[in-house]
Amino acid sequence: MDALVHTTDIAAGDLPAEQSYRLLTGLVVPRPIAWVTTLSAGGTVNLAPFSHFTFVSPKPPMLAISVGRKGDTYKDTATNILRTEEFVVHIADSTLVAPLHESANEYPPDVSEAALLGLATAPSLHVGTPRLTAPPVAMECRLRHCIEFGETRSRLLVGEVLVFRLRPDLLQDGKVDTLSLDPIGRIAGPNYTRLGEIITQRPIHQTSKS
Ligand SMILES: Cc1cc2nc3c(=O)[nH]c(=O)nc-3n(C[C@H](O)[C@H](O)[C@H](O)COP(=O)(O)O)c2cc1C
Repeated sequence: MDALVHTTDIAAGDLPAEQSYRLLTGLVVPRPIAWVTTLSAGGTVNLAPFSHFTFVSPKPPMLAISVGRKGDTYKDTATNILRTEEFVVHIADSTLVAPLHESANEYPPDVSEAALLGLATAPSLHVGTPRLTAPPVAMECRLRHCIEFGETRSRLLVGEVLVFRLRPDLLQDGKVDTLSLDPIGRIAGPNYTRLGEIITQRPIHQTSKS
């Protein structure tokens, strides 16, 4: 209680992007991670993790990832999504933290991080971009919006989920069994987390779901 009686105040407007990035990635935690496959112009499967990730609408189901720039150019994932208008978002479990982390290394657009890491792929149902077979979840997405934000011009890419592809044991009574999903979250830098203790409260009464 009363944790903010005495405060450390940091004027946000004066902060260089790098410092506010450090604050934001330290404070907005833990973040879920979208492990995203896209197709390069030459047809190789690009793979990279994105923890600026959430859903923005339940109907149609829409997911958003924010992709930054490397110097003056956008990362391969953003370039590929804008060209093909599709991508596949996977949710990795804790057994996949090492390859997920490694897949963030920078390679030229024609190098497949999936192939380099020995991760098998399989055809998708509704998009030309293959999915990974190792993660417990793959969501095939069609690009619906691209919005640029701020001086760093990060791109928020919003995709409509065309199909949810789940490992069969994940669904219990129509709900995802979170313990069985065993998702990983990102903290700052090379640090990740698994689910900790689950704290259950009384259900909230509401008339509509949002
Ligand atoms: C766990 C994790 C989460 C990341 N999240 C993001 C993110 O949300 N946005 C971003 O631009 N880069 C993020 N990165 C960095 C990209 O994954 C990295 O720049 C990658 O090389 C991009 O690959 P690409 O050029 O093939 O798209 C993250 C890296 C890690 C390890």
